[in-house]
Amino acid sequence: MNRILWFLTGTAVCLGLADAKIVPGKGFDRFITIWLENQDYAKVVVDESIKDLKKQGILLTRYYAHTHPSQPNYVASIGGDYFGMNHDEMARIPTNVSTVVDLLESREISWAGYFENLPGPGFMGNYSDGPTGGGTWDYVRKHNPFVTYDSVTSDGERLLCLLSFDDFQRAFRAKQVPQFVFMTPNMMNDGHNTTLKVAADWSHKFLQPLLAEKAFDEKTLIMLTYDESETYEEPNHIVTLLLGSAIPEKLRGTEDNTFYTHYSMLSTLEYNWGLPHLGRYDVGANVFQYVADMGGYKKNKDPANLGTINNSVSYPGFLHNDTSQFMPVPSPNLKLVGASGLGILDVVAKTWPATKDATTPYDGSGNVYDAETLPVYSAPAANTL
Ligand SMILES: *[C@@H]1O[C@H](CO)[C@@H](O)[C@H](O)[C@H]1NC(C)=O
Ligand SMILES: *[C@@H]1O[C@H](CO)[C@@H](O)[C@H](O)[C@H]1NC(C)=O
Ligand SMILES: *[C@@H]1O[C@H](CO)[C@@H](O)[C@H](O)[C@H]1NC(C)=O
Ligand SMILES: *[C@@H]1O[C@H](CO)[C@@H](O)[C@H](O)[C@H]1NC(C)=O
Ligand SMILES: *[C@@H]1O[C@H](CO)[C@@H](O)[C@H](O)[C@H]1NC(C)=O
Repeated sequence: MNRILWFLTGTAVCLGLADAKIVPGKGFDRFITIWLENQDYAKVVVDESIKDLKKQGILLTRYYAHTHPSQPNYVASIGGDYFGMNHDEMARIPTNVSTVVDLLESREISWAGYFENLPGPGFMGNYSDGPTGGGTWDYVRKHNPFVTYDSVTSDGERLLCLLSFDDFQRAFRAKQVPQFVFMTPNMMNDGHNTTLKVAADWSHKFLQPLLAEKAFDEKTLIMLTYDESETYEEPNHIVTLLLGSAIPEKLRGTEDNTFYTHYSMLSTLEYNWGLPHLGRYDVGANVFQYVADMGGYKKNKDPANLGTINNSVSYPGFLHNDTSQFMPVPSPNLKLVGASGLGILDVVAKTWPATKDATTPYDGSGNVYDAETLPVYSAPAANTL
């Protein structure tokens, strides 16, 4: 690796892609997601900073997190399941479970995760003090989904793509921001240890340069979201805003009432870039409507079991901290077809061939599950997409 170039750009060389070609997508050429903490939809939509941002983008009015607390929601968003996780303690997911990283790298699409106050590339510790100092945990592992997946951490080059906000600013100035970016502000700016208003005001300020004309040369979609709601008794309804130069002019300031969850990020990325899929809950999750419309995708629908969802308590799985709730890592469903019309990612099919006919909870239906509405395991069958 050319270290001088790395210091100059902060990131692009994390994949050896400093001068890689941009892979164009149906609805965007770059995707940046920024994650805030623990707020209910109803309180966020009336915040002044959020209302101002909304004028420039699309408000997703029916977007739901999966469970509580934070960590499983982050983990689910890049791997297509949370594997029963119901806690924020350190966890590891074995190398045979793939993530968005495998999907993107299969088409040489550059990516990085940026975490505010991460002390150095690829840091895998539980927490780290930033400027606040004194054991205050500005950076926390539970808000960085990549480090939970051994398929990321067992690869040194991938670890080099887990970077700090300073690295992001360097990449932004150098116009070297990767095509997929996941960002978590520190525990103050994301609202975890502060307030709804602090996080919303921080977001408004942080986003201004990114929303400026000419901020990026390529069509960029920015997804500002929350990991989970504050109130546990309700079905985990959160605010998500779509922003950036990729949003068509006529859709700015509008609302989209399609049902979404954190799995919609994966299905939208897959549809946008024509990627294969992971064979988990990424298949069947609704594609962000404006992107679906640009490519003519017509399969968005409400989950059939919508009425029963609560999304407050985790279903069983190998990451559940109550051992009576243990279930092995489910086999992905190798027979599904994803939103992009493609089958399963090669590396997933190669990793799980012996289990081709094992039962699986993934049926591509887009249904949602929790501790009261349990996933249903059955023989893998093709979906009808
Ligand atoms: C599991 O995690 C939850 C959330 O942190 C905690 O309240 C509970 O006590 C934990 N249970 C066990 C058995 O460790
Ligand atoms: C991180 O926390 C886990 C418990 O959740 C503990 O077992 C582990 O030793 C901690 N690691 C570090 C580097 O502090
Ligand atoms: C955030 O709050 C936790 C307790 O929830 C505390 O342990 C931690 O030090 C706080 N971190 C910051 C940056 O204030
Ligand atoms: C959702 O689940 C939580 C935790 O079990 C419970 O307190 C709450 O009443 C449930 N809400 C609904 C609407 O069923
Ligand atoms: C995936 O890895 C886990 C942990 O190493 C192992 O228990 C499981 O058998 C593996 N599954 C397959 C299909 O290789």
